[in-house]
Amino acid sequence: MPTSAPVYRPPSMIGLVSATEPAPPVADLPTQDVDRSDPDQRGWLKEAVRKVRAESGRSADTHLLAFPLPEEWGIDLYLKDESTHPTGSLKHRLARSLFLYALCNGWIRPGRPVIEASSGSTALSEAYFAKLIGVPFIAVMPRTTSSEKTRLIEFQGGTCHLVDDPRTVYEVSARLAAESGGHFMDQFTYAERATDWRGNNNIAESVYGQLSRERHPEPAWIVATAGTGGTSATFARYIRYMQYDTRVCVPDPENSCFFEGWTRGDPEATSATGSRIEGIGRPRMEPSFVPGAIDRMMKVPDAASVAAVRTLDRVLGRKAGGSTGTGLWSSLRIVAEMLAAGEQGSVVTLLCDPGERYLDKYYSDVWLAEQGLDIGPYVRTLERFLATGAWTEHR
Ligand SMILES: Cc1ncc(COP(=O)(O)O)c(C=O)c1O
Repeated sequence: MPTSAPVYRPPSMIGLVSATEPAPPVADLPTQDVDRSDPDQRGWLKEAVRKVRAESGRSADTHLLAFPLPEEWGIDLYLKDESTHPTGSLKHRLARSLFLYALCNGWIRPGRPVIEASSGSTALSEAYFAKLIGVPFIAVMPRTTSSEKTRLIEFQGGTCHLVDDPRTVYEVSARLAAESGGHFMDQFTYAERATDWRGNNNIAESVYGQLSRERHPEPAWIVATAGTGGTSATFARYIRYMQYDTRVCVPDPENSCFFEGWTRGDPEATSATGSRIEGIGRPRMEPSFVPGAIDRMMKVPDAASVAAVRTLDRVLGRKAGGSTGTGLWSSLRIVAEMLAAGEQGSVVTLLCDPGERYLDKYYSDVWLAEQGLDIGPYVRTLERFLATGAWTEHR
């Protein structure tokens, strides 16, 4: 007797539904479904991301400059020259990463402003990217920010909102964002996570690639100052990920709490006075500062930072901002230590931004006198060291 062929049922349906059974009653709880996809918004976003990524394609890598030291010391010092980015500082990389991160998270909307708390360099770079994708930009900065940086932000189409107390930049930015329906970029929170620390041509991968044919291709030390802490975190994580032995030193200026917070292991450390070295030194332990990744810190007197940028100008013919001086002072101190210990190797620090932005500050003797800064003893320490190899910090 012919039998009817069995009805095929996928395994997931066996025991659940029968072709011959009546349909089950409608469930009490319907599926809720909210679709916020917006083709216009997605089209705008794709175009904005394309513009930011295309900008990266047009940018070349920055130079690694050799700081001249006597050949026979067997120690090489380099400065990664971040001043040659289109917006003149290492913050160009960060601003690009922050924009991509915020765009891909759906945080930046057409026509809505981007707001940032900054000591100026990040704001300048972000003003450039905001203009590129066509959204308004507001920089919230301490009133002491150099007038040249304010001018450059306005040149990029940004608006500057200056505050008297540097500690209020975060809350003022959040308030402006809430009032305008805009987005507070918050570099101090997001810098460390917006940058791809494993590589992707980040600053660390770039430096190691550039050192590959040098006599000491794996540096003994990377010296990076901290504003958000993002740059030092990127270096430190990349070094560990690549299993290098390089150590990371973060020099901190006066009027910053990073050094005290790091040495005491105190995440609540604060500083009441704003930093005189623009771009670095913060009044609170910023979320993007990653203490566990840092090997060493130094507290550098502001006069030593200024002395070091003046020395850089004399030796290399290049003016740089104060944070470059803070890093250079610490780097030369480490070179002196290596020399005294008979060690050979290389040290890398950063030329963070150009000194032309600070002619009325670090290059002005009037400003130094107003600030009560005497750079003479520190200049002598540096000059003596470069001439003899002996490092003395005595007055
Ligand atoms: C001039 C300058 N140097 C150094 C830094 C420190 O970089 P980071 O924020 O990655 O710690 C900054 C940060 O704003 C800066 O503006």
